[in-house]
Amino acid sequence: MKHIRIFDTTLRDGEQSPGANLTPAEKLMIAKQLEKMNVDIIEAGFPISSKGSFEAVEAIAKEVKKPVICALARTNKEDIDAAWNAIKHAKKPRIHVFVATSQIHMEHKLKKSPEEVIKMASEAVKYAKSFCEDIEFSPEDASRSDIDYMCRVIEAAVAAGATTINIPDTVGYAHPDEYGSRFRYVQENVANIKGAILSAHCHNDLGLATANSLAAIENGATQIEGTINGIGERAGNVALEEVIMALKTRKDYYDADTAINTKEIFRTSRMVSKLTGMPIQWNKAIVGRNAFSHEAGIHQHGVLSYKKTYEIMSSEDIGWEGENIVFGKLSGKHAVEDVLKKAGITLNKEQVLQVTAKIKELSDKQKQIEQSDVIALALDTLNQLNEGEEIIKLDEWSVLTGNKITPSSTVGLTIDGEKKVGTAAGVGPVDAASNAIKSVIGPFIHLKEYNLKAITGGTDALASVSIKLEDNQRNVFVSEAVEPDVIMASVKAIIKGANKALVFKKRHKKE
Ligand code: KIV
Ligand code: ZN
Repeated sequence: MKHIRIFDTTLRDGEQSPGANLTPAEKLMIAKQLEKMNVDIIEAGFPISSKGSFEAVEAIAKEVKKPVICALARTNKEDIDAAWNAIKHAKKPRIHVFVATSQIHMEHKLKKSPEEVIKMASEAVKYAKSFCEDIEFSPEDASRSDIDYMCRVIEAAVAAGATTINIPDTVGYAHPDEYGSRFRYVQENVANIKGAILSAHCHNDLGLATANSLAAIENGATQIEGTINGIGERAGNVALEEVIMALKTRKDYYDADTAINTKEIFRTSRMVSKLTGMPIQWNKAIVGRNAFSHEAGIHQHGVLSYKKTYEIMSSEDIGWEGENIVFGKLSGKHAVEDVLKKAGITLNKEQVLQVTAKIKELSDKQKQIEQSDVIALALDTLNQLNEGEEIIKLDEWSVLTGNKITPSSTVGLTIDGEKKVGTAAGVGPVDAASNAIKSVIGPFIHLKEYNLKAITGGTDALASVSIKLEDNQRNVFVSEAVEPDVIMASVKAIIKGANKALVFKKRHKKE
């Protein structure tokens, strides 16, 4: 049986999704959950791209010891130095070097000749190898590259020391047969390829990423790169959970396995969705909320008689959790800790007590508090700014609304110690409150996205508001607030996001 390595790039290619924006603390939390899921390699980031990315990769390298920790680099020395400096404390470090090899990329993006690109690849791999034994090389846009030229680049990279060769379908253009035969061709035409690990990296622009990854496995790939929930640039990367469960469910066909603890898939999926603010499509394979639901009478009847009539895998295999643990006034910190531990969320003692206190406070207003409420409250606590970092403080707000009047709102804020009041109208109460806040803090940020979700059912449900704010430098800030009152949650989320933007501005001024 073939063994397939799972290379997770949620924190690198996944985080490149428009709008997915993770703090270093959130990335570390996801990396720890990926370790629990037993992925073989975590691509933790692209350290040269920003200070935040460097810090996140470094923290993961120091704390996550079981998987290989990989950092991405282009072919220049600055990128490779940054990658190495970020991962040098890892128990198992890997540098991933890439350069584009398709005519279209070489001509229009790199403005380099094919011979120059071969030299760049070879020298960069050699330089990376001076730091670290484990080197991955990717000819970017491989599936649109001239195949013989691509083989020459791969041969040069292996000769320079690459131990894994990744063949990315960067723009999701390949057809499964075509992509599979590229792997065959490499094995038959690259003289020094034996001994190197072949890897597939598929994007989903035509919805073919899973089919392409499986075709690569059938043709010799033993490493699959992808992301949780399939997040990533444009239409995303291959959803790892789909490849993993296809191999497990159709072992008879693929004769291949992975080391993944599939029971952690559900938790990882929910954590990634929550922290990136990217919801999961209801009918998404494996992890969508409908993936194991049966609505039609005939199906229900069949499943009740014998589960396998309509279920090809069981929800327990991916760790599907009935979210029916109920919390209330009498729930103590141990129950909270237990739920958070299962969800892979680490809070310090003081934060756990804060969450427990919030649950007690909420139980007076809301009949039932469920597991998902507790997780939302924990994330809300985790994303609080540090003591003293808050620049804007909410003193009070009020909203006047009705079916015969234009909604209007007044908010009182303290900004850097100075009390200010703003009033504005809006198309609805939330819009009015948002405009009132804006009238005080000025136009340096605007609301890019607003999502409202009732966490549990009923009119007394907790409202979870997640927003994305953009400043005038086009930096995006994500924030979330959970409250029983929709307007309160919205106001808190906006102020939290504005604080993040102001703290970011202040820190960057200092640097
Ligand atoms: O899609 C791609 O080509 C990439 C490379 C950096 C491997 O993400
Ligand atoms: Zn990619």
